[in-house]
Amino acid sequence: MSGADTKFPDGFTWGASTSAYQIEGAWNEDGKGPSVWDLFVQEEDKMWRGQTGKIACDHYHRFKEDVALMAQIGIKAYRFSLSWSRILPKGTGKVNKAGIRFYNALIDELLKNGIEPWITLFHWDYPYELYLQGGWLNPKSPEWFEEYTRVAVEHFSDRVRYWVTINEPQGFLGLGHSEGYHAPGLKLCLRECLLAGHNTLLAHGRSVRVIRDNAKLEPTIGWSPASSAYRPSTNSLNDINAAREATYAIYPGGLWNTCWWTDPVFLGAYPDEGLKIYGKDSPQATKADMKLINQPIDFCGCNLFQVVPVKMGANGAPVAVELQPEEPISTYEWSLNTEGLYWGPTFIHERYQTPLVIMENGCSLLDRVGLDGAVHDSGRKDFIIGCLLSLHRAIEDGVDVRGYFHWSLMDNFEWQQGYKHRFGLVYVDFESQDRILKESAFTYQEIIATHGESLRKYTHNQEEPVPYVVKEAQRYIENNISEPFNVKTIAAHLNCHPDSLSRRFKQYTGTSLSTHIRRVRLECARNMLRDPNMLIGVVSDYCGFSDRIHFTKVFRKEMGMTPGQFQRQFRAREDAEEKAAVEISKNPRVK
Ligand code: NOJ
Repeated sequence: MSGADTKFPDGFTWGASTSAYQIEGAWNEDGKGPSVWDLFVQEEDKMWRGQTGKIACDHYHRFKEDVALMAQIGIKAYRFSLSWSRILPKGTGKVNKAGIRFYNALIDELLKNGIEPWITLFHWDYPYELYLQGGWLNPKSPEWFEEYTRVAVEHFSDRVRYWVTINEPQGFLGLGHSEGYHAPGLKLCLRECLLAGHNTLLAHGRSVRVIRDNAKLEPTIGWSPASSAYRPSTNSLNDINAAREATYAIYPGGLWNTCWWTDPVFLGAYPDEGLKIYGKDSPQATKADMKLINQPIDFCGCNLFQVVPVKMGANGAPVAVELQPEEPISTYEWSLNTEGLYWGPTFIHERYQTPLVIMENGCSLLDRVGLDGAVHDSGRKDFIIGCLLSLHRAIEDGVDVRGYFHWSLMDNFEWQQGYKHRFGLVYVDFESQDRILKESAFTYQEIIATHGESLRKYTHNQEEPVPYVVKEAQRYIENNISEPFNVKTIAAHLNCHPDSLSRRFKQYTGTSLSTHIRRVRLECARNMLRDPNMLIGVVSDYCGFSDRIHFTKVFRKEMGMTPGQFQRQFRAREDAEEKAAVEISKNPRVK
């Protein structure tokens, strides 16, 4: 890969993400209503060291300083979430003007600094008042979310173009409603969790409709589920297939999967496999429900952190591969392997064929301020570089990725884990609220400034594995040699664009894919024609030529002789050999 072009496509967005409860603080200021998290953190024994998000990064009061840091890093887009109950203290009804003022000021400050605001409407801090009315289990919850969206669109869509409806339903439903260690701390049965999930999806659909119909600036809309992706433990096709299967799979008993949540949004139906596995616990979804959920949107957000390695097991099913003891891990003990940013987007794009944006990717490390006053987070620096090189490779292979948002802009409140895990590009001292740009922030700064070109210097000793599309194309050709396929057929089989497939193939092998196909067919034909008794029509058919005349034409062009002439050489050789054998038997002294 030495000297490879690592520049990202024009228009690719470089960003960083945060969420309201994780950074804002000011939990009960200026008329803000409580959210489930405000209450949850006050319960005994729920939180790591009893920590809360009451102050967090105090971003509510320090947002100008934070925007200045973003500008210093060179971030072009900032994804933040609105606190629903800061805007509507009771979740619906009366609007809190101070809440609107805060977000207006933040948006203006961003724009003043040339940073595009990306709003997430819901990132887990559900209004407590609505929770008391049943929260996501209440059939009215989609309407409540619609009302809230309407308020946000009315006030912010004159300056905001990018909208994300809901962040990681798997997170707030799985951890918060099923396992109980996130707010609101419920341990509902599967049936109730899936019902809450169905209402969440309906809320997404209603929200999209409101944004699309009312936004003052042409909106770009996406949603941001957790991407439960898997990567192959080796580059073998079996393991690649196993990883794809695991990425699309729904495993019994859990809500952490990709397809249950994202199939309805992009394909308009719950996956059959999920309906089978969840069985009678699945929600009663009407056709109208699915249509509402399946509103056209502009991109699929991917929150991608650890991507578990798998291999194909003896029975053909994917099996997780344990991490090697020496493999680097984060403070969460998530693998720091960076190949996931190639495989995750590749598999998700194959299934949904929609533009992707990496909405969250990052790692938690034991960062500390060194004696020189700097934060030397070389692990994060390497992680960002590795992830972006993988992502670039995926883009080269035809995956349509429009942007990358690092999680997170700054160290923040990591939910029930308090301040134990630092994910930021910016170090936050939670006592003094001082901020320090970590070394990784400067690395990211350089990557952004060069639109990815600076990544090239980290590729000098990396052996690029054979790109997946190249390998699959070669396999396809070998396995289907008798079929009349062309570049388009193979691209359709690989779910990628013919041009990007051809480009990647040429780049890697030095030969164009169409030439390669012709050569493989001719090579096969030449081998068959070595048999002097082989019929030319049979060879033409077997090697996938449309007819004998076309075969002869192509053969002659490439070989300078017809298939018949080529074959006659072997016939002649065989005759000569036969004659020589007869001579020898007649006169043993002739050699
Ligand atoms: C995804 C969540 O959206 C975010 O809130 C959380 O901090 C990160 N995962 C890291 O755990």
